[in-house]
Amino acid sequence: MATMEQVRRQLEEAGQAHLLRFWPELDPEGRAVLLGELSALDLRELRQHCLSAAAAASRRKGLDEIQRDMKPMPPELVGSVCHSDPEALASWEQEGFHLISQNKVAVLLLAGGQGTRLGVPYPKGMYNVGLPSGKTLYEIQAERIRKVEELASEKCGSKGTVPWYIMTSEFTLGPTKTFFVEHDFFHLDKSNVILFEQRMLPAVTFDGKAILEQKDKVAMAPDGNGGLYRALEDNQILEDMESRGVQYIHVYCVDNILVKMADPVFIGFCVSKGAECGAKVVEKFDPAEPVGVACQVDGVYQVIEYSEISPENAQMRNPDGRLTYNAASICMHFFTVEFLKTVVREMEPHLQPHVALKKVPFVDEEGNLVKPIKANGIKMEKFVFDVFQFSKNFVIFEVLREDEFSPLKNSDTADKDTPTTARRALLSQHYRWALKAGARFLDTGGYQIPEKLSLSERDDPPVVCEISPLVSYFGEGLEVHMKDKDFTSPILINKNQVKALTNP
Ligand code: UD1
Repeated sequence: MATMEQVRRQLEEAGQAHLLRFWPELDPEGRAVLLGELSALDLRELRQHCLSAAAAASRRKGLDEIQRDMKPMPPELVGSVCHSDPEALASWEQEGFHLISQNKVAVLLLAGGQGTRLGVPYPKGMYNVGLPSGKTLYEIQAERIRKVEELASEKCGSKGTVPWYIMTSEFTLGPTKTFFVEHDFFHLDKSNVILFEQRMLPAVTFDGKAILEQKDKVAMAPDGNGGLYRALEDNQILEDMESRGVQYIHVYCVDNILVKMADPVFIGFCVSKGAECGAKVVEKFDPAEPVGVACQVDGVYQVIEYSEISPENAQMRNPDGRLTYNAASICMHFFTVEFLKTVVREMEPHLQPHVALKKVPFVDEEGNLVKPIKANGIKMEKFVFDVFQFSKNFVIFEVLREDEFSPLKNSDTADKDTPTTARRALLSQHYRWALKAGARFLDTGGYQIPEKLSLSERDDPPVVCEISPLVSYFGEGLEVHMKDKDFTSPILINKNQVKALTNP
């Protein structure tokens, strides 16, 4: 660790000496904490970071040009679950399973975010949305990995492993690790669950000063999910992947309860197109939905985030009434390891950070803690999809929202993307699967409950039927449990047992 004098000198050079403002009044413990924190910062980079944050916030550089030059994706680059013939879908899926069985596919979870909107003090993956099984997002994801491995083995005759890489941050690493240990890694081999940490960056005032959140603590935030690329390098993750023979990565964000882990169709599609990277999208209907859209800007394919698209472009419609920019990214991406190697080696430094203006609590000159009511700080973040622009072959794949996208972003006080909507989306999907497999649902009087197939986001399914991911990955294999059988809601279909639940 650097000495106090070294740190002071470097802070002065970086124009950040105010971070030591309360040094004289700190006790030895506080001093040790602050010195440790400041030593861990790259103080040469800090100067540059603070200057560029302040400059970027004042310019919001290039956003107007982006709006002007935006165009929708050319249709020929868009694959689709709905518009592809069944043979093509089956062959992509078969290719995906084959690659999984050959140990060539890994999943990589972006789980370093603070989950501020959901408002729980623990990582989002540990959230239980209130399913009958009580499963958390992490447990559901782990079981889907086990199931996709099992299916690949049945279809291809050799058992592959899908390693699970989990990017955490200072906020999420400790609790995530403990949670996995407490749950015995959800019966996955723990050597195949690899947790690593992304970097943090200081929050900066509009005049370029790092913010003290407490007298002995600098306000820090993770460097965005595009911090992935530095984190891959810092933690030698690509080397780990190569040592396992992994060639293709399915990157996803933690909060989508419907995520198809290591989705064989998506992977098979991207690989068959020779893509270096790809993005899964759903159709965007509401111009205000907080989702990035895949598009081209000046002929370069990329995702424009919801915070950076103008209202005019967001609301623009085609003659048929659909949104012009309707390819909503669901934060499910495909990358080849080869492409990631080039990104890490050559392109990462060219990624432009994005500016988020935030209310950052701080200590004022007198040492009082202040919770600002308007934005006072700049957080700089890189976005995971910003590397798409560097790829020679980028594809997008459109899937159905009701089958694959229901993110948990907000608490139940909001209307959308809440624990209630996530639970409803999963149970509606399982209800549709059960009906398709030939199940009949009876009420307590023994009468059949009428089927209701077109459910809106606001409708609960007429029955509660939760199906363990260990039984079915995406609706397959349920006939043996359900065909022509009568069930009384609520039920939970587990691997070796159909469990009748009591009504709440
Ligand atoms: C994200 C996408 C948006 C997409 C939407 C779909 C980005 C930048 N935005 O938006 O385009 O339409 O999901 O739901 O990808 N994370 C980190 N480290 C960080 C910050 C975030 O790992 O420093 C992780 C989060 O834990 C989460 C994921 O990245 O798993 C997405 O972050 P979140 O803040 O939820 O993004 P959104 O704004 O919802």
